[in-house]
Amino acid sequence: MKFHIDTRRTVGKRDPMIYGQFIEHFHRQIYGGIYDPGNPLSGKEGFREDVIRAMQRIKVPVLRWPGGCFVSAHHWKDAVGKNRVPTFDKAWRVEEPNTFGTDEYIAFCRRVGCEPYICTNAGTGTAEEMSDWVEYCNLKTEGPYAKQRIANGHSDPFKVKYWSIGNENYGGWEIGAKTATEWGRLVTESAKMIQRVDPSIELSAAALADLDWNINLLKNCGERLAWISIHDYWDGIHQTNDYANYEQCMAYTNYLEDKVAKVRGLLCAMGLEKQIRIAFDEWNLRGWYHPNSHSLKLGINPDDYIKPRDLNDENCRYTMADAVFTACFLNMANRNCDIVGMTNYAPVVNTRGLIYTQKDGIVLRSTYHVFDLYVNGLGDTVLDSFVSDMPVLKIRDKAGNLVETPALDLLATLNPDGNIVIAAVNKDPGEAQTLQVVMEKLPQRVSIQTLSGKSIDAFNDMGRNDAVPGAAAETRYNTETGISLPPHSVSIVRFFGDSLPADSYVE
Ligand code: AHR
Ligand code: AHR
Repeated sequence: MKFHIDTRRTVGKRDPMIYGQFIEHFHRQIYGGIYDPGNPLSGKEGFREDVIRAMQRIKVPVLRWPGGCFVSAHHWKDAVGKNRVPTFDKAWRVEEPNTFGTDEYIAFCRRVGCEPYICTNAGTGTAEEMSDWVEYCNLKTEGPYAKQRIANGHSDPFKVKYWSIGNENYGGWEIGAKTATEWGRLVTESAKMIQRVDPSIELSAAALADLDWNINLLKNCGERLAWISIHDYWDGIHQTNDYANYEQCMAYTNYLEDKVAKVRGLLCAMGLEKQIRIAFDEWNLRGWYHPNSHSLKLGINPDDYIKPRDLNDENCRYTMADAVFTACFLNMANRNCDIVGMTNYAPVVNTRGLIYTQKDGIVLRSTYHVFDLYVNGLGDTVLDSFVSDMPVLKIRDKAGNLVETPALDLLATLNPDGNIVIAAVNKDPGEAQTLQVVMEKLPQRVSIQTLSGKSIDAFNDMGRNDAVPGAAAETRYNTETGISLPPHSVSIVRFFGDSLPADSYVE
Protein backbone atom coordinates (compact mmCIF):
# COMPACT_ATOMS: atom_id res chain seq x y z
CA MET A 1 0.00 0.00 0.00
CA LYS A 2 1.04 3.62 -0.46
CA PHE A 3 -0.20 6.63 1.50
CA HIS A 4 -0.16 9.62 -0.85
CA ILE A 5 -0.08 13.05 0.80
CA ASP A 6 -0.42 16.34 -1.03
CA THR A 7 0.71 19.18 1.22
CA ARG A 8 -0.76 21.69 -1.24
CA ARG A 9 -4.34 20.49 -0.72
CA THR A 10 -5.96 20.88 2.68
CA VAL A 11 -9.35 19.67 3.89
CA GLY A 12 -9.38 22.46 6.46
CA LYS A 13 -8.31 23.47 9.91
CA ARG A 14 -9.86 21.18 12.51
CA ASP A 15 -11.68 22.86 15.40
CA PRO A 16 -10.06 21.75 18.70
CA MET A 17 -13.60 20.95 19.85
CA ILE A 18 -13.56 17.72 17.84
CA TYR A 19 -11.76 16.39 20.93
CA GLY A 20 -14.62 17.45 23.22
CA GLN A 21 -16.12 15.49 26.09
CA PHE A 22 -19.53 14.78 27.66
CA ILE A 23 -20.59 14.10 31.22
CA GLU A 24 -24.02 13.20 32.53
CA HIS A 25 -25.80 12.81 35.86
CA PHE A 26 -25.73 9.06 35.43
CA HIS A 27 -24.32 6.45 37.82
CA ARG A 28 -20.84 7.60 39.02
CA GLN A 29 -19.94 10.18 36.40
CA ILE A 30 -20.67 13.22 38.59
CA TYR A 31 -21.02 11.98 42.20
CA GLY A 32 -17.99 9.80 42.93
CA GLY A 33 -16.59 10.78 39.55
CA ILE A 34 -15.53 14.37 39.01
CA TYR A 35 -17.25 15.52 42.25
CA ASP A 36 -16.15 13.72 45.39
CA PRO A 37 -16.25 16.10 48.39
CA GLY A 38 -14.46 14.68 51.42
CA ASN A 39 -12.11 12.51 49.37
CA PRO A 40 -8.51 13.46 50.21
CA LEU A 41 -7.87 13.47 46.45
CA SER A 42 -10.45 16.25 46.03
CA GLY A 43 -9.73 19.97 46.38
CA LYS A 44 -11.68 22.48 48.45
CA GLU A 45 -14.46 22.68 45.85
CA GLY A 46 -14.94 18.91 46.02
CA PHE A 47 -13.55 18.25 42.54
CA ARG A 48 -11.16 15.30 42.09
CA GLU A 49 -7.80 16.98 41.43
CA ASP A 50 -6.40 13.84 39.77
CA VAL A 51 -9.29 13.88 37.31
CA ILE A 52 -8.76 17.57 36.59
CA ARG A 53 -5.07 16.96 35.87
CA ALA A 54 -5.89 14.06 33.54
CA MET A 55 -8.46 16.19 31.67
CA GLN A 56 -5.98 19.07 31.41
CA ARG A 57 -3.39 16.73 29.90
CA ILE A 58 -5.72 15.95 27.00
CA LYS A 59 -6.62 19.63 26.75
CA VAL A 60 -10.39 19.05 26.99
CA PRO A 61 -11.75 21.93 24.87
CA VAL A 62 -15.45 21.68 25.71
CA LEU A 63 -17.57 19.69 28.19
CA ARG A 64 -21.25 18.98 27.42
CA TRP A 65 -23.49 18.65 30.54
CA PRO A 66 -25.85 17.67 32.35
CA GLY A 67 -27.27 15.05 29.92
CA GLY A 68 -28.21 13.00 28.01
CA CYS A 69 -31.51 11.51 29.03
CA PHE A 70 -31.16 13.00 32.51
CA VAL A 71 -31.72 16.53 31.22
CA SER A 72 -35.15 15.85 29.70
CA ALA A 73 -36.84 15.98 33.09
CA HIS A 74 -34.29 18.13 34.94
CA HIS A 75 -35.09 21.62 36.20
CA TRP A 76 -31.95 23.69 36.57
CA LYS A 77 -33.46 25.92 39.27
CA ASP A 78 -33.48 22.92 41.64
CA ALA A 79 -29.68 22.84 41.48
CA VAL A 80 -28.67 26.43 42.26
CA GLY A 81 -28.75 28.44 45.46
CA LYS A 82 -28.17 27.82 49.12
CA ASN A 83 -30.54 24.94 49.90
CA ARG A 84 -30.55 22.20 47.30
CA VAL A 85 -33.62 20.03 47.55
CA PRO A 86 -33.09 16.47 46.26
CA THR A 87 -35.38 15.51 43.40
CA PHE A 88 -36.32 12.20 41.85
CA ASP A 89 -34.55 11.75 38.49
CA LYS A 90 -37.24 10.14 36.36
CA ALA A 91 -34.84 9.43 33.54
CA TRP A 92 -32.62 7.13 35.57
CA ARG A 93 -34.98 6.50 38.49
CA VAL A 94 -32.60 7.56 41.24
CA GLU A 95 -32.53 10.47 43.67
CA GLU A 96 -30.59 13.48 42.34
CA PRO A 97 -29.05 15.41 45.25
CA ASN A 98 -28.72 18.58 43.13
CA THR A 99 -25.49 19.45 44.99
CA PHE A 100 -23.67 19.61 41.66
CA GLY A 101 -25.49 22.23 39.61
CA THR A 102 -24.74 25.11 37.27
CA ASP A 103 -22.37 26.96 39.63
CA GLU A 104 -20.36 23.83 40.42
CA TYR A 105 -20.27 22.85 36.72
CA ILE A 106 -18.97 26.26 35.65
CA ALA A 107 -16.35 26.19 38.42
CA PHE A 108 -15.29 22.72 37.25
CA CYS A 109 -14.98 23.89 33.64
CA ARG A 110 -12.86 26.85 34.78
CA ARG A 111 -10.55 24.52 36.69
CA VAL A 112 -10.16 22.18 33.68
CA GLY A 113 -9.83 25.13 31.31
CA CYS A 114 -12.61 24.04 28.96
CA GLU A 115 -15.66 25.70 27.43
CA PRO A 116 -19.01 24.88 29.06
CA TYR A 117 -21.69 23.49 26.74
CA ILE A 118 -25.12 23.23 28.38
CA CYS A 119 -27.87 20.94 27.07
CA THR A 120 -31.32 22.17 28.08
CA ASN A 121 -34.51 20.34 29.03
CA ALA A 122 -36.74 20.19 25.95
CA GLY A 123 -38.55 17.14 27.33
CA THR A 124 -40.66 18.52 30.21
CA GLY A 125 -39.01 21.95 29.96
CA THR A 126 -40.25 25.06 28.25
CA ALA A 127 -38.80 27.83 26.09
CA GLU A 128 -39.08 30.04 29.17
CA GLU A 129 -37.19 27.67 31.49
CA MET A 130 -34.40 27.34 28.91
CA SER A 131 -34.12 31.09 28.40
CA ASP A 132 -34.24 31.68 32.17
CA TRP A 133 -31.15 29.41 32.39
CA VAL A 134 -29.40 31.67 29.86
CA GLU A 135 -30.43 34.70 31.95
CA TYR A 136 -28.90 33.07 35.04
CA CYS A 137 -25.63 32.35 33.22
CA ASN A 138 -25.15 35.23 30.83
CA LEU A 139 -26.99 38.42 31.88
CA LYS A 140 -25.04 40.92 33.94
CA THR A 141 -27.68 41.94 36.48
CA GLU A 142 -30.98 42.25 34.65
CA GLY A 143 -33.96 40.29 35.93
CA PRO A 144 -34.32 37.79 38.79
CA TYR A 145 -32.00 35.03 37.57
CA ALA A 146 -28.87 37.12 37.01
CA LYS A 147 -29.53 38.57 40.47
CA GLN A 148 -29.78 35.00 41.85
CA ARG A 149 -26.41 34.17 40.33
CA ILE A 150 -24.93 37.24 41.97
CA ALA A 151 -26.55 36.32 45.29
CA ASN A 152 -25.05 32.84 44.90
CA GLY A 153 -21.63 34.45 44.86
CA HIS A 154 -20.95 34.89 41.15
CA SER A 155 -21.07 38.58 40.28
CA ASP A 156 -19.73 38.17 36.75
CA PRO A 157 -21.76 36.41 34.03
CA PHE A 158 -20.55 32.90 33.19
CA LYS A 159 -20.55 33.72 29.46
CA VAL A 160 -21.69 30.23 28.38
CA LYS A 161 -21.29 30.32 24.61
CA TYR A 162 -22.55 26.86 23.59
CA TRP A 163 -26.11 25.71 24.27
CA SER A 164 -28.15 22.83 22.89
CA ILE A 165 -31.94 22.65 22.82
CA GLY A 166 -32.88 19.18 23.98
CA ASN A 167 -31.41 15.70 23.97
CA GLU A 168 -32.61 12.94 21.61
CA ASN A 169 -36.19 14.20 21.82
CA TYR A 170 -36.97 12.04 18.80
CA GLY A 171 -36.53 8.85 20.84
CA GLY A 172 -39.40 6.94 22.43
CA TRP A 173 -37.12 6.33 25.41
CA GLU A 174 -36.73 10.06 26.05
CA ILE A 175 -38.98 11.78 28.57
CA GLY A 176 -41.11 14.39 26.77
CA ALA A 177 -40.36 12.91 23.33
CA LYS A 178 -41.61 14.98 20.39
CA THR A 179 -42.82 14.43 16.84
CA ALA A 180 -40.85 16.07 14.03
CA THR A 181 -43.59 18.69 13.68
CA GLU A 182 -43.68 19.46 17.40
CA TRP A 183 -39.89 19.62 17.43
CA GLY A 184 -39.64 22.23 14.69
CA ARG A 185 -42.02 24.51 16.56
CA LEU A 186 -40.55 24.00 20.04
CA VAL A 187 -36.99 24.62 18.88
CA THR A 188 -38.06 27.74 17.02
CA GLU A 189 -39.83 29.26 20.02
CA SER A 190 -37.06 28.20 22.42
CA ALA A 191 -34.34 29.58 20.14
CA LYS A 192 -36.26 32.84 19.80
CA MET A 193 -36.52 33.36 23.56
CA ILE A 194 -32.94 32.23 24.22
CA GLN A 195 -31.55 34.58 21.59
CA ARG A 196 -33.57 37.48 22.96
CA VAL A 197 -31.60 36.96 26.18
CA ASP A 198 -28.21 36.52 24.53
CA PRO A 199 -27.99 36.65 20.72
CA SER A 200 -24.25 35.98 20.88
CA ILE A 201 -24.51 32.33 21.87
CA GLU A 202 -24.14 29.40 19.46
CA LEU A 203 -27.21 27.18 19.49
CA SER A 204 -27.60 23.53 18.61
CA ALA A 205 -30.66 21.30 18.63
CA ALA A 206 -31.11 17.56 19.04
CA ALA A 207 -31.21 15.78 15.70
CA LEU A 208 -30.31 12.52 14.02
CA ALA A 209 -29.58 11.27 10.52
CA ASP A 210 -33.25 11.39 9.54
CA LEU A 211 -34.66 13.49 6.72
CA ASP A 212 -38.13 14.24 8.13
CA TRP A 213 -36.84 15.24 11.55
CA ASN A 214 -34.08 17.41 10.18
CA ILE A 215 -36.02 19.00 7.31
CA ASN A 216 -38.73 20.04 9.76
CA LEU A 217 -36.18 21.31 12.25
CA LEU A 218 -34.14 23.21 9.68
CA LYS A 219 -37.12 24.61 7.78
CA ASN A 220 -38.57 25.98 11.02
CA CYS A 221 -35.41 27.06 12.76
CA GLY A 222 -32.36 26.56 10.55
CA GLU A 223 -31.58 30.26 10.35
CA ARG A 224 -31.24 30.41 14.15
CA LEU A 225 -28.85 27.46 14.56
CA ALA A 226 -25.05 27.32 14.44
CA TRP A 227 -24.94 23.56 15.15
CA ILE A 228 -26.97 20.42 14.66
CA SER A 229 -26.45 17.58 17.17
CA ILE A 230 -26.20 13.88 16.40
CA HIS A 231 -25.23 10.84 18.51
CA ASP A 232 -24.06 7.30 17.95
CA TYR A 233 -23.14 4.20 19.96
CA TRP A 234 -22.19 1.35 17.65
CA ASP A 235 -22.08 -1.65 20.00
CA GLY A 236 -25.60 -1.17 21.33
CA ILE A 237 -25.33 -3.20 24.54
CA HIS A 238 -27.51 -0.96 26.72
CA GLN A 239 -29.76 -3.91 27.64
CA THR A 240 -27.47 -6.92 27.26
CA ASN A 241 -23.85 -5.92 28.00
CA ASP A 242 -22.77 -8.54 25.47
CA TYR A 243 -19.60 -6.86 24.22
CA ALA A 244 -18.65 -7.12 20.56
CA ASN A 245 -15.23 -8.77 20.28
CA TYR A 246 -12.23 -7.18 18.55
CA GLU A 247 -13.09 -8.28 15.01
CA GLN A 248 -16.75 -7.31 15.42
CA CYS A 249 -15.64 -3.88 16.62
CA MET A 250 -13.48 -3.49 13.53
CA ALA A 251 -16.58 -4.22 11.43
CA TYR A 252 -18.26 -1.25 13.09
CA THR A 253 -15.54 1.04 11.68
CA ASN A 254 -17.24 0.62 8.29
CA TYR A 255 -20.11 2.76 9.60
CA LEU A 256 -18.26 5.64 11.22
CA GLU A 257 -19.09 8.23 8.62
CA ASP A 258 -22.67 7.27 7.69
CA LYS A 259 -24.49 9.81 9.87
CA VAL A 260 -22.09 12.64 9.11
CA ALA A 261 -22.49 12.02 5.38
CA LYS A 262 -26.30 12.06 5.58
CA VAL A 263 -26.47 15.24 7.66
CA ARG A 264 -23.82 16.91 5.49
CA GLY A 265 -25.88 16.08 2.40
CA LEU A 266 -29.02 17.59 3.88
CA LEU A 267 -27.25 20.74 5.06
CA CYS A 268 -25.83 21.17 1.53
CA ALA A 269 -29.23 20.53 -0.06
CA MET A 270 -30.71 23.27 2.13
CA GLY A 271 -27.79 25.64 1.57
CA LEU A 272 -26.92 25.64 5.27
CA GLU A 273 -23.52 23.94 5.15
CA LYS A 274 -21.68 27.23 5.61
CA GLN A 275 -23.81 28.32 8.57
CA ILE A 276 -24.45 25.11 10.52
CA ARG A 277 -21.78 22.65 11.70
CA ILE A 278 -22.29 19.16 13.04
CA ALA A 279 -21.84 18.57 16.78
CA PHE A 280 -21.43 14.82 17.19
CA ASP A 281 -22.08 15.47 20.85
CA GLU A 282 -22.39 11.95 22.14
CA TRP A 283 -20.37 9.04 20.77
CA ASN A 284 -18.72 5.88 22.04
CA LEU A 285 -18.06 2.46 20.56
CA ARG A 286 -19.98 0.95 23.48
CA GLY A 287 -23.52 1.81 24.55
CA TRP A 288 -23.82 2.35 28.29
CA TYR A 289 -25.19 -0.63 30.21
CA HIS A 290 -28.47 0.30 31.93
CA PRO A 291 -30.79 -2.69 31.54
CA ASN A 292 -34.53 -2.41 32.12
CA SER A 293 -34.29 1.39 32.16
CA HIS A 294 -35.37 2.32 28.63
CA SER A 295 -37.50 -0.73 28.03
CA LEU A 296 -41.30 -0.86 28.31
CA LYS A 297 -40.94 -3.45 31.10
CA LEU A 298 -38.93 -1.45 33.65
CA GLY A 299 -36.91 -3.02 36.43
CA ILE A 300 -38.73 -3.11 39.75
CA ASN A 301 -36.08 -4.48 42.07
CA PRO A 302 -33.00 -2.18 42.12
CA ASP A 303 -30.94 -5.32 41.51
CA ASP A 304 -32.64 -5.52 38.10
CA TYR A 305 -31.86 -2.03 36.89
CA ILE A 306 -29.60 -0.03 39.22
CA LYS A 307 -27.02 -2.57 40.47
CA PRO A 308 -26.22 -3.77 36.92
CA ARG A 309 -24.98 -0.26 36.07
CA ASP A 310 -21.88 -1.09 38.14
CA LEU A 311 -20.85 -3.45 35.33
CA ASN A 312 -19.90 -0.39 33.24
CA ASP A 313 -17.02 -0.07 35.72
CA GLU A 314 -15.16 -3.20 34.61
CA ASN A 315 -11.88 -1.76 33.33
CA CYS A 316 -10.91 -5.03 31.63
CA ARG A 317 -13.62 -4.35 29.05
CA TYR A 318 -11.94 -1.27 27.58
CA THR A 319 -9.30 -2.82 25.36
CA MET A 320 -7.40 -2.16 22.14
CA ALA A 321 -10.69 -2.69 20.29
CA ASP A 322 -11.98 0.47 21.97
CA ALA A 323 -8.71 2.30 21.35
CA VAL A 324 -8.47 1.36 17.66
CA PHE A 325 -12.15 2.20 17.08
CA THR A 326 -11.75 5.53 18.89
CA ALA A 327 -8.76 6.45 16.71
CA CYS A 328 -10.73 5.59 13.55
CA PHE A 329 -13.60 7.82 14.73
CA LEU A 330 -11.23 10.73 15.43
CA ASN A 331 -9.68 10.23 11.99
CA MET A 332 -13.19 10.48 10.51
CA ALA A 333 -13.90 13.67 12.48
CA ASN A 334 -10.62 15.21 11.27
CA ARG A 335 -11.30 14.22 7.66
CA ASN A 336 -14.72 15.92 7.95
CA CYS A 337 -13.42 18.96 9.82
CA ASP A 338 -15.04 21.26 7.25
CA ILE A 339 -18.47 20.32 8.62
CA VAL A 340 -17.83 18.50 11.94
CA GLY A 341 -16.86 21.20 14.44
CA MET A 342 -17.36 19.36 17.70
CA THR A 343 -17.54 15.81 19.01
CA ASN A 344 -18.08 14.79 22.63
CA TYR A 345 -16.86 11.43 23.87
CA ALA A 346 -19.60 9.88 26.02
CA PRO A 347 -18.56 10.11 28.78
CA VAL A 348 -15.19 11.45 29.92
CA VAL A 349 -15.30 9.95 33.44
CA ASN A 350 -16.62 6.51 34.55
CA THR A 351 -19.35 4.47 32.81
CA ARG A 352 -17.60 3.80 29.44
CA GLY A 353 -15.32 6.81 29.88
CA LEU A 354 -11.69 7.63 29.26
CA ILE A 355 -10.96 7.99 32.97
CA TYR A 356 -12.11 5.65 35.72
CA THR A 357 -12.18 6.85 39.33
CA GLN A 358 -12.05 4.93 42.52
CA LYS A 359 -11.59 6.23 46.06
CA ASP A 360 -7.79 6.10 46.02
CA GLY A 361 -6.95 6.86 42.42
CA ILE A 362 -7.82 6.86 38.74
CA VAL A 363 -7.31 4.54 35.79
CA LEU A 364 -6.52 5.98 32.36
CA ARG A 365 -8.24 3.51 30.03
CA SER A 366 -6.86 2.62 26.57
CA THR A 367 -9.14 5.20 24.92
CA TYR A 368 -7.70 8.01 27.09
CA HIS A 369 -4.29 7.42 25.54
CA VAL A 370 -5.72 7.76 22.03
CA PHE A 371 -6.94 11.25 22.93
CA ASP A 372 -3.53 12.00 24.48
CA LEU A 373 -1.72 10.93 21.29
CA TYR A 374 -4.12 12.87 19.02
CA VAL A 375 -4.51 16.08 21.01
CA ASN A 376 -0.80 16.37 21.82
CA GLY A 377 0.63 14.87 18.63
CA LEU A 378 -1.42 15.74 15.56
CA GLY A 379 -1.38 18.95 13.54
CA ASP A 380 -4.34 21.30 13.27
CA THR A 381 -4.52 21.40 9.45
CA VAL A 382 -5.92 18.30 7.77
CA LEU A 383 -4.20 17.46 4.48
CA ASP A 384 -5.76 15.81 1.49
CA SER A 385 -4.51 12.26 1.06
CA PHE A 386 -5.42 8.91 -0.43
CA VAL A 387 -4.27 5.31 -0.20
CA SER A 388 -3.45 3.04 -3.12
CA ASP A 389 -3.46 -0.78 -2.75
CA MET A 390 -5.10 -0.71 0.67
CA PRO A 391 -4.82 -4.12 2.35
CA VAL A 392 -8.23 -5.51 3.32
CA LEU A 393 -9.26 -7.48 6.40
CA LYS A 394 -11.89 -10.19 6.10
CA ILE A 395 -13.72 -10.35 9.44
CA ARG A 396 -17.05 -11.35 10.93
CA ASP A 397 -19.43 -8.66 12.18
CA LYS A 398 -21.60 -9.15 15.27
CA ALA A 399 -24.36 -10.71 13.20
CA GLY A 400 -21.87 -13.30 11.98
CA ASN A 401 -21.63 -11.97 8.42
CA LEU A 402 -18.25 -12.09 6.68
CA VAL A 403 -17.36 -8.47 5.86
CA GLU A 404 -14.32 -6.61 4.57
CA THR A 405 -12.75 -3.54 6.12
CA PRO A 406 -9.63 -1.60 5.18
CA ALA A 407 -6.73 -2.83 7.34
CA LEU A 408 -5.40 0.71 7.83
CA ASP A 409 -7.02 4.01 8.72
CA LEU A 410 -4.69 6.92 7.94
CA LEU A 411 -4.91 10.67 8.51
CA ALA A 412 -2.39 13.29 7.37
CA THR A 413 -2.05 16.61 9.17
CA LEU A 414 0.29 19.61 9.14
CA ASN A 415 1.31 21.17 12.42
CA PRO A 416 2.23 24.85 13.02
CA ASP A 417 5.95 23.94 12.81
CA GLY A 418 5.46 22.74 9.25
CA ASN A 419 5.80 19.09 10.22
CA ILE A 420 3.69 16.42 8.57
CA VAL A 421 2.08 14.34 11.31
CA ILE A 422 0.25 11.13 10.41
CA ALA A 423 -2.18 9.17 12.55
CA ALA A 424 -1.69 5.58 11.41
CA VAL A 425 -4.13 2.96 12.67
CA ASN A 426 -3.53 -0.73 11.96
CA LYS A 427 -6.82 -2.56 12.57
CA ASP A 428 -5.33 -5.97 11.79
CA PRO A 429 -5.72 -8.14 14.91
CA GLY A 430 -2.62 -10.21 14.20
CA GLU A 431 -0.41 -8.89 11.42
CA ALA A 432 1.85 -5.86 11.23
CA GLN A 433 1.19 -3.64 8.24
CA THR A 434 3.71 -1.47 6.41
CA LEU A 435 3.12 2.24 5.98
CA GLN A 436 4.71 3.62 2.82
CA VAL A 437 4.39 7.37 2.54
CA VAL A 438 4.48 9.07 -0.87
CA MET A 439 4.95 12.81 -0.75
CA GLU A 440 6.98 15.46 -2.51
CA LYS A 441 10.16 16.25 -0.58
CA LEU A 442 9.42 13.74 2.19
CA PRO A 443 11.64 14.69 5.15
CA GLN A 444 13.93 11.92 6.35
CA ARG A 445 13.80 12.56 10.06
CA VAL A 446 10.78 10.83 11.59
CA SER A 447 9.53 10.02 15.05
CA ILE A 448 7.04 7.27 15.79
CA GLN A 449 4.95 6.79 18.92
CA THR A 450 2.72 3.73 19.12
CA LEU A 451 -0.10 2.46 21.32
CA SER A 452 -0.60 -1.24 20.63
CA GLY A 453 -1.03 -3.10 23.89
CA LYS A 454 0.24 -6.60 24.49
CA SER A 455 -2.78 -8.12 22.73
CA ILE A 456 -6.15 -7.14 21.31
CA ASP A 457 -7.56 -7.59 24.81
CA ALA A 458 -4.95 -5.45 26.59
CA PHE A 459 -6.42 -3.04 29.14
CA ASN A 460 -5.40 -0.77 32.00
CA ASP A 461 -6.46 -0.98 35.62
CA MET A 462 -5.16 0.09 39.03
CA GLY A 463 -1.54 -1.06 39.01
CA ARG A 464 -1.81 -2.42 35.46
CA ASN A 465 -0.74 -0.55 32.33
CA ASP A 466 -0.97 -2.98 29.44
CA ALA A 467 -2.47 -0.48 27.00
CA VAL A 468 -0.28 2.61 27.15
CA PRO A 469 1.81 4.19 24.38
CA GLY A 470 5.53 3.54 24.12
CA ALA A 471 7.95 6.46 24.04
CA ALA A 472 8.36 8.33 20.77
CA ALA A 473 11.32 6.91 18.85
CA GLU A 474 13.23 8.99 16.31
CA THR A 475 14.62 7.33 13.23
CA ARG A 476 15.36 7.89 9.57
CA TYR A 477 12.57 7.13 7.12
CA ASN A 478 13.51 4.34 4.77
CA THR A 479 11.54 4.66 1.53
CA GLU A 480 12.15 0.98 0.75
CA THR A 481 10.97 -0.54 4.01
CA GLY A 482 8.52 2.16 5.03
CA ILE A 483 7.32 2.01 8.62
CA SER A 484 6.10 -1.13 10.28
CA LEU A 485 2.83 -0.66 12.15
CA PRO A 486 2.27 -3.35 14.80
CA PRO A 487 -1.07 -5.22 14.85
CA HIS A 488 -4.01 -3.60 16.71
CA SER A 489 -2.16 -0.30 17.00
CA VAL A 490 -2.48 3.47 16.84
CA SER A 491 0.65 5.40 15.87
CA ILE A 492 1.56 9.05 15.56
CA VAL A 493 4.21 9.38 12.85
CA ARG A 494 5.86 12.79 12.67
CA PHE A 495 8.03 13.84 9.75
CA PHE A 496 10.11 16.80 10.77
CA GLY A 497 9.84 19.75 8.39
CA ASP A 498 12.22 19.57 5.40
CA SER A 499 13.65 22.87 6.51
CA LEU A 500 16.07 20.70 8.47
CA PRO A 501 19.28 19.55 6.70
CA ALA A 502 18.75 16.12 5.11
CA ASP A 503 21.11 14.31 7.48
CA SER A 504 19.60 15.76 10.64
CA TYR A 505 18.30 12.57 12.22
CA VAL A 506 19.15 10.62 15.31
CA GLU A 507 20.76 7.19 14.66
O1 AHR B 1 -26.98 5.42 27.35
C1 AHR B 1 -26.91 6.74 27.81
C2 AHR B 1 -27.80 7.58 26.96
O2 AHR B 1 -27.47 7.43 25.60
C3 AHR B 1 -27.72 9.10 27.12
O3 AHR B 1 -28.23 9.56 28.33
C4 AHR B 1 -28.57 9.50 25.95
O4 AHR B 1 -28.32 10.77 25.48
C5 AHR B 1 -28.21 8.43 24.90
O5 AHR B 1 -29.36 7.79 24.45
O1 AHR C 1 11.91 3.99 8.68
C1 AHR C 1 11.41 3.82 9.94
C2 AHR C 1 11.75 2.45 10.44
O2 AHR C 1 11.52 1.48 9.47
C3 AHR C 1 10.91 2.07 11.61
O3 AHR C 1 11.40 2.55 12.82
C4 AHR C 1 10.93 0.59 11.55
O4 AHR C 1 9.80 0.02 12.13
C5 AHR C 1 10.98 0.30 10.07
O5 AHR C 1 11.82 -0.76 9.83
